This record gives sequence, C-alpha cells and structure tokens, in this order.
Amino acid sequence: MSYKACLFDLDGVLVDTAIYHFKAWKMLGENFNYQLTEEQNEQLKGVSRVESLNRILAWASYSATEEQKEIWLKEKNDNYLSLISSMNPAEILPGVVDFLDQIKENGYKIALGSASKNAEIILEKTGLMPWFDLIIDGNKVSKSKPDPEVFLKGAEGLGFLPSECIVFEDAQAGVEAAISGGMKVIGIGDASVLSDADKVIPNFVGIKSTDLLLF
Ligand code: BG6
Ligand code: MG
Repeated sequence: MSYKACLFDLDGVLVDTAIYHFKAWKMLGENFNYQLTEEQNEQLKGVSRVESLNRILAWASYSATEEQKEIWLKEKNDNYLSLISSMNPAEILPGVVDFLDQIKENGYKIALGSASKNAEIILEKTGLMPWFDLIIDGNKVSKSKPDPEVFLKGAEGLGFLPSECIVFEDAQAGVEAAISGGMKVIGIGDASVLSDADKVIPNFVGIKSTDLLLF
C-alpha cells in the first residue's frame, strides 16, 4: 500500500503533556477530596476532557450536578493552561522534528488528530504548527476517541481514503479509533499496552520516512 498522509495524535506522540493533565486533574480533585493515581491517569490518555471528569467522579463515587461539572471543567482547563503557559520547543518529544521534516520533504500530507481543545495553543508554543496541513482537534469533533471521527475528518479533509493514511497514537482509545476508521496505526510507547496497533515503536528516534513503506 502506498500511503499519502500521516495523522498524528498530539499529547504523548508529539509532546509529553500527560504530566500537565495529571497535575491539573489532581488539583481539581482537591475540591472533592480525591487523590487521582498515576495508574488512573493512564486510563485518561486520549479521553476527552468531559469524559475524563466523568470517569474521575465515578472513581471518587461523587455525583455532581451538570452545573458543577461545567465549573470544574473550566477550573481544570484553567489549571492546565497555566501549567502549559511556558511550554516551548524543548518539550517536543525526541525524533519528532526529524521525522516530520523527512515526511514533508517526501511529499506526505500531515494532519493532527487530537481530542484536545488546546491543540492549537500547544502547536504554537512548541513551534510545530508549520508542519501541519490540517488540524482536527477537540473543537472540531462531536465524538471522542475511540470513535474514529477525528481521524476520518483528517483523511477526508486532506482528500484521501482512510486506507491511504497512517495514524500515530500513544493511547489505546486512539488505536481503536484508527482501526475502526480503517487506517493503519502505529503505536507510540509500550507494545504490551498498545497490542492492537499494527506496529509499536517506543518513540520517533531513528524512524525514517522510508519506514512508512515497511509499516
Ligand atoms: C487528549 C489527552 O489528547 O486530550 C487527554 O490525552 C485530554 O488527557 C484530552 O483529556 C482533552 O484535552 P483538553 O486539552 O481539551 O482538555
Ligand atoms: Mg495521546
């Protein structure tokens, strides 16, 4: 198969923002005396903000009104925005810039497929914006991963079939989204966690655009 486009998740694939999401949720949990653990935070990767809050409240056995949830969603995001306010290009994950350079030079189109509503801010702060032909983020979808909407919109927006796209994902929910969208998916991280992906690589160090032909 000759691929024409690469669709990248953001958090955990291009930049490591998981620590900031974790801190911001932990700060929010203080409102209802709940201590979020690192293991639980793993399960929030790739999951939308509102779904993450619902899961945390369920773990805490805390029932909140819709009005209270809206207040907490804003509070969590305010916490998160202040934590990422000094993000810079040094926080781009290893090997990412080289790989983006290579695929761009070789004519592949590049799209973002992220659940985050803060994706554009992060791309601006880290200087990654110029590589992207299209950005599909949490503001442009109505269904959260594992629904394939974010990746299908990416493929369609670039003008390609799902089978012409390769997705790069670090979260199980994102791997499932790519598979149900009919796309090839490369997991970034731990092969035991991302066992459904077509292939798993620990990171982009040493990955070349010619590897796309082998995936
Ligand atoms: C995903 C992250 O990329 O975006 C999740 O993995 C996060 O942890 C989700 O909850 C939504 O992000 P945001 O920035 O819109 O709160
Ligand atoms: Mg991710």
